[in-house]
Amino acid sequence: MTVPRGWQFFMHPGPTNIPHRVLQAMARPTVDFTAPAFVALRDRSLERMKGILKTRVGFVITYAASGNGAWDASIANLFSPGEKVLVPQTGFFADRWANTARAYGLEVEALPTTERRSVDPEAVGRALAADAKKQIKAVMLIQNETATGIRHPIAEVRAVMNRLGHPALYLVDTISSLASYDFRMDEWGVDLTIGGSQKGLMLPPGMAFTAINPRAWEVAQSTRNTRKYWDWRPMIENGRQVQFCGTPPISHFFGLEASLDMIEEEGLENVFARHRRLADATRACVRHWGKGGGPEVYCLDPEFASDSLTAVMVPAGHDADVVRTIAQDRYGVALGRGLTTLQGRVFRIGHMGDLNEPMLLGALGAIELALADAKVPHARGGVEAAMDALRASA
Ligand SMILES: Cc1ncc(COP(=O)(O)O)c(C=O)c1O
Repeated sequence: MTVPRGWQFFMHPGPTNIPHRVLQAMARPTVDFTAPAFVALRDRSLERMKGILKTRVGFVITYAASGNGAWDASIANLFSPGEKVLVPQTGFFADRWANTARAYGLEVEALPTTERRSVDPEAVGRALAADAKKQIKAVMLIQNETATGIRHPIAEVRAVMNRLGHPALYLVDTISSLASYDFRMDEWGVDLTIGGSQKGLMLPPGMAFTAINPRAWEVAQSTRNTRKYWDWRPMIENGRQVQFCGTPPISHFFGLEASLDMIEEEGLENVFARHRRLADATRACVRHWGKGGGPEVYCLDPEFASDSLTAVMVPAGHDADVVRTIAQDRYGVALGRGLTTLQGRVFRIGHMGDLNEPMLLGALGAIELALADAKVPHARGGVEAAMDALRASA
């Protein structure tokens, strides 16, 4: 029997590796969440989150929930049943957010996108231009579609909305881009931002965020939807979260403080640069494997390839899940699976959060072994290509 030895490499696109510093910060006795010390921790942490999301006019609140909770909150607070939203179909996660909207009685206009490509802002523009009665209440877009490893053009979509003078709210999910690459809530005119703890913030799952700008906050006052756990109104006073519906995620706040310290010490822009560097190295490796009919980067628009994960498409006739299972069972490297229509077609390499060059190179080397074991054609030497990319960006 083989038993796992040595470090297991966790390369999922979320949850991600939790640094010891965060784990240690969380490993402390709980406290009274109404006591001044915790209230001060809550206030300063949520204030610091504004810096990550680049908002001054918005405010950030959090819930004890996974990211799905923030999706529910966005719908429950901002819409009344029967209202319409436009959702570009970027993949599995956009579909799930759209289904949340449907579950709350909203009408969803799903905007088809071209497979393996980023959303075309002009296609969003055409859908909005066709909405002569301005019935579309919001555009809901995922910045980083975790199912595909494709990023979407947040600023450009806002520019189109402005050009058309369409009054829809703009809701953006940053769950797998938060603290991994740039997001500018105010500058890009985003009214509501969704975030989660378990990806770029390097925390366990269980803390969901929403950043709400004054316009979204105002809309939330008069909508008619069932809301209780997610109801913002009792939670917020004067642009500040003053309570939770129930017990807050106390230990997560301890971890969040450590995570924010780590990000601040590295520098947010340096965190982004590290993600870009590791992402570029990953893609150099996959491109090398692809020579002669091997695996490919799923995203066909290099400038929209995600900095937080890479979806790798195996050649037709091969099963990505076989590669993934071998990587896990023989080499101790955990990868993300392909979701729904991409199941068996792609495996996903997460390269976000607490990650460095040797962790990435080790994982890529093991994946190359798994490709060989699974008899997936590929050019050998992908790790060398990744190292070249790292040398070039040193
Ligand atoms: C882009 C995106 N949105 C939403 C979610 C849902 O978050 P959660 O699984 O924390 O509920 C995920 C989860 O991976 C995601 O990647």
